[in-house]
Amino acid sequence: MTIQTNLPVQALRWTGDTLIVLDQRQLPEQVVYDEYRDASGVTEAIVTMRVRGAPAIGIAAAYGIVLSAKQHYSVNNDQWLPLVEADIDKLAKSRPTAVNLFWALDRMSAQLQQSHDDPVQSLLVCAEKIHADDIAANHTMGELGADIIAGSQGVLTHCNTGTLATGGYGTALGVIRSAYQRQSLKVYAGETRPWLQGVRLTAWELSQDGIPVTLCADSAAAWLMKSGRIDWIIVGADRIAANGDTANKIGTYSLAVLAKQHGVKFMVVAPTSTIDWTIENGDQIRIEERNQNELLPACYIKENSLVSAWNPVFDVTPAELITAIVTERGVIMNPAKTSGVRGLNVVIC
Ligand code: MRU
Repeated sequence: MTIQTNLPVQALRWTGDTLIVLDQRQLPEQVVYDEYRDASGVTEAIVTMRVRGAPAIGIAAAYGIVLSAKQHYSVNNDQWLPLVEADIDKLAKSRPTAVNLFWALDRMSAQLQQSHDDPVQSLLVCAEKIHADDIAANHTMGELGADIIAGSQGVLTHCNTGTLATGGYGTALGVIRSAYQRQSLKVYAGETRPWLQGVRLTAWELSQDGIPVTLCADSAAAWLMKSGRIDWIIVGADRIAANGDTANKIGTYSLAVLAKQHGVKFMVVAPTSTIDWTIENGDQIRIEERNQNELLPACYIKENSLVSAWNPVFDVTPAELITAIVTERGVIMNPAKTSGVRGLNVVIC
């Protein structure tokens, strides 16, 4: 069901019974929210990128499990648990790269396995905590990142890492928001081909907040750096390996290589829910490849076409190209020279 609301923009909103998801495919032309009542619907919303961005995907999945339990739980029937577990498996197959999805599902599964009088309520408490903790982490990272970039003239960001991609406020975009409140700052956003998260989402989100933003073609990034207009590139992450290698939106790696050439500093901003402690380095990260039709102009989409497209949607930036990784637990400067993110004080459970 599609609904209209006058509430401030949010990627996700729990109503008490249903999950409201802002359909990001329709931005910036239309602000349309869809309402979901079951985990299959939420899975579909993630697969089709109505909701996207690593933390937002994890939060949506957590609420998806609440909806599943609401649908299947019954005091008199012990067959409900396998049905919820099947929904968890479906959600886990929605997108492969953002580790926040699996992190959130693991937390919800652990909650599910504990015996409760009221499993729906205990799962809801868990999902709401995942959501609230993400917002709090973003505000902390915003302040930490703004300290580091103090005095910068200009920054370039990639993809969309703001309210639309998280529980609220944003990771890289949160740092930009916090910095903008403190000082003057010229903000550049790369268009982020092929899905155009930069053009459609970041530019829109910043302009809603009254923050001026200048778009540039992805292919203009080297020339922007050469012009001396930016001091930092600030990006989010979908999965960070223990050594600091970072998977993020396709094109991030190119920016990091170019930044090194031009003496521009490179910051990754991500909550610790984006760290995959089980992998040593970025070689072990599965990179999602999406349908070629997201890239091909309509005239090439036909039977026996001689034109096809390769559409990896993430890449991996090696830790040695990263100046700083900002998390809610602290900042790692030069992760390749320390021990990646291993020095962070994180309780792994
Ligand atoms: O394909 P998307 O739009 O889900 O990719 C999003 C990104 O790559 C973001 O940079 C990342 O998830 C961090 S969002 C805070």
